[in-house]
Amino acid sequence: MVSPRYLCHRHDIEDGEAKGFTFGSGDSRWEIFVVREGEALFGYVNSCPHIGTPLDWVPDQFMSADGSYILCATHGALFEVETGHCISGPCAGSNLKPVALRVDDEGAVHLSAPDPADSEAH
Ligand code: FES
Repeated sequence: MVSPRYLCHRHDIEDGEAKGFTFGSGDSRWEIFVVREGEALFGYVNSCPHIGTPLDWVPDQFMSADGSYILCATHGALFEVETGHCISGPCAGSNLKPVALRVDDEGAVHLSAPDPADSEAH
């Protein structure tokens, strides 16, 4: 059995901030990001539902100025941290694709499946 893919420790992400992760390269490149709110973590595919661009222009800059929402830097869409639901912008009403995470007792954060493509939460 292949163990789930390790991403980082919970405390490698500042409270209220996010961190991006890239897998593979070329056509098989696959990006996700993880947002931390207190001790809670939320993972999403780094692809805006508007036109599919990554949300961060500057690496790991995924949050709105006040830190309350996930922000797409391309056209300013805002997404709820807990749900990935878009509440403002050109893709309002749509959702980021969630990625299932697993956090162990020591705070190590893993994808819940070894292959990122298998880890999308449903
Ligand atoms: S690409 Fe994200 S709002 Fe347009």
